[in-house]
Amino acid sequence: MTTWMWPPPVEIPPRHRQPAADDPVSSYSQVVKPGQLDVTHGVVLYLDNISVSFDGFKALNNLSLAIDAGELRCVIGPNGAGKTTMMDVITGKTRPDSGTAFFGQTIDLKQYSEVQIAQAGIGRKFQKPTIFEHHTVFENLELAMKAGKRVVKTLFARLTSEQRDRIAEMLKLIRLTDSEQRVAGLLSHGQKQWLEIGMLLMQEPKLLLLDEPVAGMSDDETERTAELFLTLAGKHSLVVVEHDMAFVEKIARKVTVLHEGSVIAEGAMEHVQNDPRVIEVYLGR
Ligand SMILES: Nc1ncnc2c1ncn2[C@@H]1O[C@H](COP(=O)(O)OP(=O)(O)O)[C@@H](O)[C@H]1O
Ligand SMILES: [Mg+2]
Repeated sequence: MTTWMWPPPVEIPPRHRQPAADDPVSSYSQVVKPGQLDVTHGVVLYLDNISVSFDGFKALNNLSLAIDAGELRCVIGPNGAGKTTMMDVITGKTRPDSGTAFFGQTIDLKQYSEVQIAQAGIGRKFQKPTIFEHHTVFENLELAMKAGKRVVKTLFARLTSEQRDRIAEMLKLIRLTDSEQRVAGLLSHGQKQWLEIGMLLMQEPKLLLLDEPVAGMSDDETERTAELFLTLAGKHSLVVVEHDMAFVEKIARKVTVLHEGSVIAEGAMEHVQNDPRVIEVYLGR
């Protein structure tokens, strides 16, 4: 059974549920309730002065960044700029040496484990698709929808018509309606990527991080992925790290440029493209 629990349901340790008796401000029981995220100031993610060192080398160097709820943010930067490390910090995989990281108004990411952060609503798509190759496309979405539900019974329960509708809608969104009964392992590379994005979306993340989502895709698949992201913008908060400049130009609203672990420019695509430091960093290589 463990092979298809996705992601594995893990109980929040009790010490994170109840604030200490002498702790006047924190209220962890509220914080970890699924479906609740306080974005009263319109900010879904807030990083301030984050630094991460590996053996004295600063992969992130006082990185500051804020993502608004519903935003589609592109993060670009040369190899080694710290893009993946930034995602590792947000998802709790890497602990920052210093700095502040908040999810919504109240969730201090530094206090939570990777699993807890995923459960709080931060979804992450890695480069390599992690789908269930031997299950059909439909089953993959079904399992993703039911994963995270605490009651094991729901995994075996028949789908309600509402749940069927949700899966049908997702199939349409990720353009896999015609392939719903195909075994996922037989999909093209691009289709697998879309399926995984669909699986992440079935869990209704409050923030979705995508690391190089169009790497290895054909031009046509890249084009369709751009359309998909533009459809998601506004309804979902997305952070897209990507090397493919043509793709970034298609979807970009606000772009953040990282270099040597810091933000060197931020704004509209035309703005960052004309920034002398950005030009130097890209052309200097
Ligand atoms: N676990 C690690 N141990 C040592 N160095 C690392 C580790 N992870 C990343 N780095 C280094 O940190 C820098 C930033 O890496 P990364 O975040 O992967 O950059 P990007 O995704 O922008 O290409 C690179 O120089 C990389 O070699
Ligand atoms: Mg990377």
